[in-house]
Amino acid sequence: METTAHSPLPVPLHPGLPILGNTLAFLRNPLSTLHTLQRQHDRLVHLRIGGRNQYLVLRPEDVKHVMQENHRNYGRSPAFEILKVFLGNGLLTSDGDFWRRQRRLAQPAFHRQRLAALTTTMIAETASWIAELKQHNTKQPVNISQAFMDITMRIVCKTLFGSDTTGKLDGLSSALDTLNYLANKKMLSPIRFPYSWPTPDNVRSKRARMQVDSFIYGVIDQRRQRDEDKDDLLGMLLSAEDEDTGEKMSDQQLRDECVTIFSAGHETTAVSMAWTIYLLSQHPDVLARLQTESRTVLGDATTPAPEAFRSLTYTLQVVQESLRLYPPAWIMSRRAHNPDHIGPYTIPAGDTALISPYLLHRDPANWPDPDRFDPDRFAPGGPKEQLHSYAYLPFGGGPRLCIGNQFALMEMQILLAMLVRSFEFTPVVNQRIIPNPLITLRPNQAVRINLL
Ligand code: HEM
Repeated sequence: METTAHSPLPVPLHPGLPILGNTLAFLRNPLSTLHTLQRQHDRLVHLRIGGRNQYLVLRPEDVKHVMQENHRNYGRSPAFEILKVFLGNGLLTSDGDFWRRQRRLAQPAFHRQRLAALTTTMIAETASWIAELKQHNTKQPVNISQAFMDITMRIVCKTLFGSDTTGKLDGLSSALDTLNYLANKKMLSPIRFPYSWPTPDNVRSKRARMQVDSFIYGVIDQRRQRDEDKDDLLGMLLSAEDEDTGEKMSDQQLRDECVTIFSAGHETTAVSMAWTIYLLSQHPDVLARLQTESRTVLGDATTPAPEAFRSLTYTLQVVQESLRLYPPAWIMSRRAHNPDHIGPYTIPAGDTALISPYLLHRDPANWPDPDRFDPDRFAPGGPKEQLHSYAYLPFGGGPRLCIGNQFALMEMQILLAMLVRSFEFTPVVNQRIIPNPLITLRPNQAVRINLL
């Protein structure tokens, strides 16, 4: 008998502890808990985490419903409040009409034609980074995780602020790291003191935030005083006008968008690159094919032409497969404004829908032998093209799709192709890397590699 919206079935509740529900399982080992949930449930599963009702959505078609078809019913979940402390009310954390307006203002800065101009900057920065890596003592392994943090920070800075930041990045980088670390810590902590309390972590967080603010307001001020029309992302954001009202962004909004693009735009890419190098170190056959492609297509030019990178099809496949196995945004959440009906079930108003790209990307129903690294899944005409579009979502989906997705894919292709073209590399023996699911899915230790 068909169950109607008037008599919904209760969503299966996953067994948990009295009072704590599933909180401890999620805190202790979120990834293996997710796999257990996938094995034991079919469509939706009800969890109690941190005293809240949360509903994990398991099927791609239902994920599409939440993120795209019925997206207006969902807003940012309480988890974003922690990020707001340092990101402010920027694109990632804001909601409703305010978010819609900001997205409209920022979108042109990421259009295809703009990206072509930014690509030239990415190539030049990568070339000087490679030259620095070549100075490295070849007997010592390179901490490639850190090297990627440095270069992605430089690229986002150059594309966002142009040359205004030369020589000023060190303090900013460590302040952002501190804020990221403290936000992670707070998210995982069962006890959260309000930010107004002068705990040691709160004091550190405030100090780091002040450092970031003084840097960003300084750059904005300098730019306004010079009254220059610069061709970088900040220039675009400064001149962006609302179509309806003609209004421009306030300094506070500019600050929030800059910090958001800065944070969302470098750590995710750096972590993905570290995973990619780790995977390649375990798969010499894939590395060899990648090297052949980059050496053939790019040749020896120190700064290859931007158009050349469009022909790197296998490089893109490697990047996509790495993002499948280790999507930095491994879990996303949305809060339901009104009850939402999914098949015979209902997500009640005020509760949270959880979506895990990590789990969807390893669902054996869609990805045969899901733990195997196989870039040919993404070959033109290959198996990925037969799948539901929401079976693969490293950049999210619907109107809140990552605004920097094309930027990130281009950056990763450039970094990867130029790196493997320039070096032979071998893994450091006995390095056992496993995923550490913080705000992003990081390797549990720095990835090190011998570059020859
Ligand atoms: C491998 C790299 C990246 C990954 C995996 C990634 C992933 C994501 C995901 C999954 C979301 C959606 C979150 C949600 O719906 O809850 C998102 C949003 C966002 N990303 Fe990215 N991202 C990456 C790189 C970048 C870059 C390079 C930039 C900017 C230069 C950027 C800027 C943003 C912004 C501003 C948002 C918020 C968009 C909105 O809600 O309107 N990201 N990203």
